[in-house]
Amino acid sequence: MREAEMDVRPALAMLEELLVEPLAAAYLGWVRHDPLAQLLLPAGQADPYPMYEAIRSRGPVVPVARFGQITVSHPLCRAVLRDRDWSVRGDAPNRGEGRLSFLELDPPAHTRLRRLATPAFTPRAIAGYGGQVAAVVDRLLDGCSPGEPFELVSRLAEPMPIAVITELLGVPVGDSAEFARHGATIGGALSGIQSVAHLARLVQADRRLAAIFGEVLALKREQPAEDLVSRLVAAEPESISAEELVPFCTLVLVAGFETTVNLIGNTVLALLNHPDQWRAVVEDPGLASAAVEETLRWDAPVQRTFRVATSDVELAGRPVRRGQMVVLLVGGANRDPDVFADADTFDLSRYAPGAAPAPEHLAFSAGIHYCVGAPLARLEAAVTVRRLAERYPGLHRAGPLRRRPGSVLRGLTELVLAA
Ligand code: HEM
Repeated sequence: MREAEMDVRPALAMLEELLVEPLAAAYLGWVRHDPLAQLLLPAGQADPYPMYEAIRSRGPVVPVARFGQITVSHPLCRAVLRDRDWSVRGDAPNRGEGRLSFLELDPPAHTRLRRLATPAFTPRAIAGYGGQVAAVVDRLLDGCSPGEPFELVSRLAEPMPIAVITELLGVPVGDSAEFARHGATIGGALSGIQSVAHLARLVQADRRLAAIFGEVLALKREQPAEDLVSRLVAAEPESISAEELVPFCTLVLVAGFETTVNLIGNTVLALLNHPDQWRAVVEDPGLASAAVEETLRWDAPVQRTFRVATSDVELAGRPVRRGQMVVLLVGGANRDPDVFADADTFDLSRYAPGAAPAPEHLAFSAGIHYCVGAPLARLEAAVTVRRLAERYPGLHRAGPLRRRPGSVLRGLTELVLAA
């Protein structure tokens, strides 16, 4: 009975999301003009920024029909993310076997599991990836014929982070193509389930990924190496239980893949839409990091997260009851005009070497859940942009652009370029 419940419940929840959510969003968005639901409508997905400004004009905290309240205020988002009185637990299970492991957990389980991930992302560990990332980018670009248009996402932005994560985790290269496909399916579902076919793919991807990780875990128990999965099995059972292993690995894959693809696509698009700034990077490829940082602020790959109040609190003078949710629209907070001058302007010089320190953006969150992979994501995107600028100074758009569906993750699925 319990096993059957465990199998059926997630599928029912997903079906509800598939069938009920879009209808509810359409009704609330079109009919009731609910600001959060409007973000889910096609116009909100294409360009959420005017909607964030409309929300801002209504005050620091705005009630919404579902999910309690929303905010685009930078100081409020930052304060909630850093305050231990707020939980990441919506209805996620209480232990590490939830789909996204410690991202969905509060301390002490969060602290215990996150501690196992951090050694893979220290500055020293990350510095070791610089050469590898450049080599992968060059190999992928070598595969593009000179003078021929190429599609950035499938040729470069997707295969590069997958190559890095498979190496980091210790997944054998032979499994990486299938691994990438399933990671993309699960990562894509963070922005909502789009169709029955998508739901079926999601369930299948979840199973296959668990099977692949099962094999990798068995392999690393037999033949430990210098990778994250080997470190995890060495920490078992004191610091991580058997059931917590697959969700942990899935989190690292899902959190580190789709987000980085979006960061690369969003940065290249922002630069090519601002030719003076593309030229600045071509003239000084050292500015690639500043371009990536400004893109994180100006067009964040993760547009929102949420927290749940663990006690009755006040937020900007509004009462929030224990158990109520606040949706933190970090993509809008990053354009808070009280914090960033000319907040709507894409200007990489804010983060250029020698510039006055800019306020921190919230693209990687803040507080105890601050993205553990941030240094790796910055490195991967900066090296990619740098190599593009060095190899293709005349890079320009040469075909269609397509956005991924959904309003949590913001990024491209297609961007055709020519050099
Ligand atoms: C552009 C790329 C990335 C963006 C925008 C991003 C964004 C985020 C955000 C916003 C969170 C926190 C969510 C919250 O507070 O509710 C987060 C957490 C996390 N990210 Fe990233 N991420 C990126 C890349 C990566 C990479 C490359 C990895 C690893 C390979 C990674 C691994 C993680 C993990 C493990 C967490 C959970 C941290 C915790 O709960 O303590 N991310 N990320």
